[in-house]
Amino acid sequence: MFNIILFGPPGSGKGTQSELLIKKYGLVHISTGDLLRKEKAAKTPLGLEAEALMSKGQLVPDEVVVGMISSALDANPEAKGFLFDGFPRTEAQSQALDNLLKLKKSEIGVVLALDVNEEELIKRLVNRGFTSGRSDDANPEVQKKRQEVYKNETLPVATYYNKFNKVVHIKGEGTVEEIFSALCSEIDKRLS
Ligand code: AP5
Ligand code: MG
Repeated sequence: MFNIILFGPPGSGKGTQSELLIKKYGLVHISTGDLLRKEKAAKTPLGLEAEALMSKGQLVPDEVVVGMISSALDANPEAKGFLFDGFPRTEAQSQALDNLLKLKKSEIGVVLALDVNEEELIKRLVNRGFTSGRSDDANPEVQKKRQEVYKNETLPVATYYNKFNKVVHIKGEGTVEEIFSALCSEIDKRLS
C-alpha cells in the first residue's frame, strides 16, 4: 500500500490535484472536508455540529474526524493506497493516523506540500465562492480565519512529518497541469 498526504493551506489546490492523482494511481481519495459536507447535506447530527464550526473557519474536533477516517479505512480493505486531502490537520490527527495505519501494517509514504502565496490563495477562494455554495467560501473574514487556523494548528503537521523526512515541497503556483506533473514525478520516484 502506498499512502500519500496532500498537504497545503486552504485554496492551495488539494482537491483539484487529488482528482487527477487518484485516477492516475488508482488510490482511494479521503477528503475530510468532503466527508463533512456530505454529513451536512444529509443533516446528520454530526453534520449539523460540524457546519457550525466550518462556517466560522474553525476546525472540527479531532475525535470526530479521526472517527471518520477510521471508518473510511475499514470500508476500503482492498485499497492499493489512500490519498489524504485536508487531513491530518493537527499534530494529534497525524499521530492518530499513523497509529491507524500501523494497525493495517502500513504507513505514510510521502507528504506532498503545496506552497502557494497567501494573496493567490485568497484570490482563488474568493473566485470559488461565486460558484461553490460553500458557506466558508463567500466571507472574507472566514477566509482569513481559515488561513490563520492553518498557520497555528495545521503547520505543525508538516513539522511532525519532517522529523521522519517525509515532506516534499512542491510549487503550487502555475497551471494545474504543471503542478500535477511535479507531484507525479515525486510519487514516481518513490514507487520505482
Ligand atoms: P476543506 O474542505 O479541507 O477545505 P480547505 O483545506 O480549507 O481547502 P479547500 O478545499 O478550500 O482548498 P483546496 O486546497 O482543496 O483547493 P481547491 O483544489 O479547491 O475543509 C473545510 C473545513 O472543514 C475546514 O475549515 C474545517 O472546518 C473542516 N475540516 C476539514 N477537514 C478537517 C480536519 N481534518 N480536521 C478538522 N476540521 C476539518 O482549489 C481552490 C480553488 O482554486 C478552486 O476554485 C480551483 O479551481 C482553483 N485552482 C486550483 N488549482 C489552481 C491553479 N493551479 N491555478 C489557479 N487556480 C487553481
Ligand atoms: Mg478541498
